Amino acid sequence: MKICVIGSGYVGLVTGVCFADLGNKVYCVDNDIKKIKNLNSGYIPIFEPGLDELLKRNFISKRILFTTNLKKAVLSSDILFICVGTPITKKGDAANLNYVFQVARSIRKFINKFKVIVTKSTVPVTTGDRIEKIINLKAKKKNFEVVSNPEFLREGEAIRDFRYPDRIVVGTNNKKVIKILENLYAPIINKGAKYFTTSRRGAELIKYASNAFLATKISYINELANLCEKIKVDITDVSVGMGLDKRIGSRFLRAGPAFGGSCFPKDSRALLDTGKKFKTEFSIVKSAVESNEKRRVLLTKRIQEIMSKKFKNKIITFLGVTFKPNTDDMRESTSLTLIPYFLKKGAIIRYYDPSGKKDIFNKYKKVFYYSNISDVCLKSDLIVIHTEWNEFKSIEFRKIVKKKNFKIFDMRGLYSQNLMKKEKINYYCIGK
Ligand code: UGA
Repeated sequence: MKICVIGSGYVGLVTGVCFADLGNKVYCVDNDIKKIKNLNSGYIPIFEPGLDELLKRNFISKRILFTTNLKKAVLSSDILFICVGTPITKKGDAANLNYVFQVARSIRKFINKFKVIVTKSTVPVTTGDRIEKIINLKAKKKNFEVVSNPEFLREGEAIRDFRYPDRIVVGTNNKKVIKILENLYAPIINKGAKYFTTSRRGAELIKYASNAFLATKISYINELANLCEKIKVDITDVSVGMGLDKRIGSRFLRAGPAFGGSCFPKDSRALLDTGKKFKTEFSIVKSAVESNEKRRVLLTKRIQEIMSKKFKNKIITFLGVTFKPNTDDMRESTSLTLIPYFLKKGAIIRYYDPSGKKDIFNKYKKVFYYSNISDVCLKSDLIVIHTEWNEFKSIEFRKIVKKKNFKIFDMRGLYSQNLMKKEKINYYCIGK
């Protein structure tokens, strides 16, 4: 099939590359000339394991094309995917839909034959209705169908999530379109993914409901972890014991820092905004969001305790600063709260992250990036294991820190308390 993917950001690139890899002809469009130039010369602007190789393979075999020429791409395609960003608005919690509507206005001139217009961007309920209205303004007769097909791609696991999703959600009542998209997704459905169709508004809501639910699950386990620390119960045992109940499930029950990234915080807040708009109370999601905000502060307090409030010229080392492993994304990462806080208290901050140096810390004089674990840990007073990258899972701290009384705060529960005790390391963790 011929596909046009509008927006070559994270979702657009993964979607485009994966559809091309399934044998389709894909036009990836973006209005950022530099980005398209870079992509055409083999530079990928995002960090996503496996994407590089897949993109190159499909680029060489000309199944994927990068262009700024929206007109040509739309005219040549049967299915258009809208994959532009929907960041939170400056004023409040609502999703900013300007980019989405701009795309709708731009493509309506080029609807020369029947087109399926699919929204993959995370958009609040009723956005599809508004896109349809915008496009209808210019079309002579309704020669298109606007469909919602939300993505459920996790950063760092996006290729795998695209190829082996639990479900493909398609929101439309149009039978012809249900068939067209079923054909497009057939290679994935044949491998076991459930193809689930519902109304367009239903699909839009499923995306927000899923993200807000997972975020709530994390806030829930994080609050239980707070209790566990006071009553000497191990939160990992509680997670396992709960997760064994199939109705609950074991995933997204790992206690840790505040949840971050570009999706959970943003989408939970956007769902609250939708609730307001339709005069429906979302007290549970509201609490989960508040709980997550409080968690950032709570963790600064925990580190104060660990350091007995002595920070002046102490070396605090962060292993990992991104919000999770296998990504270079810093958005809403807990490190962004912790690092400035401890700088203010007079500490010196070092960090190492496998995804590289972060420009966001350039403004601080006392934040230093190191390019390997041994150097960054040497002579540290406190090591904060912030992100669960694999390479942080079996470090011989005693050998590399070379300091008598260093401390470790393991926010991801990567090490065994008993082992640390045996090695006489001052070890602190979450929920134990
Ligand atoms: C999330 C969803 O998982 C995807 O299904 C969705 O498509 C995506 O948002 C999106 O809306 O685009 P992502 O933000 O990439 O994906 O990251 P997750 O792996 O879900 O992790 C989110 C946050 O939760 C991270 O800060 C992570 O450390 C935290 N987390 C996750 C926990 O603290 N505990 C857990 O058990 C799981």
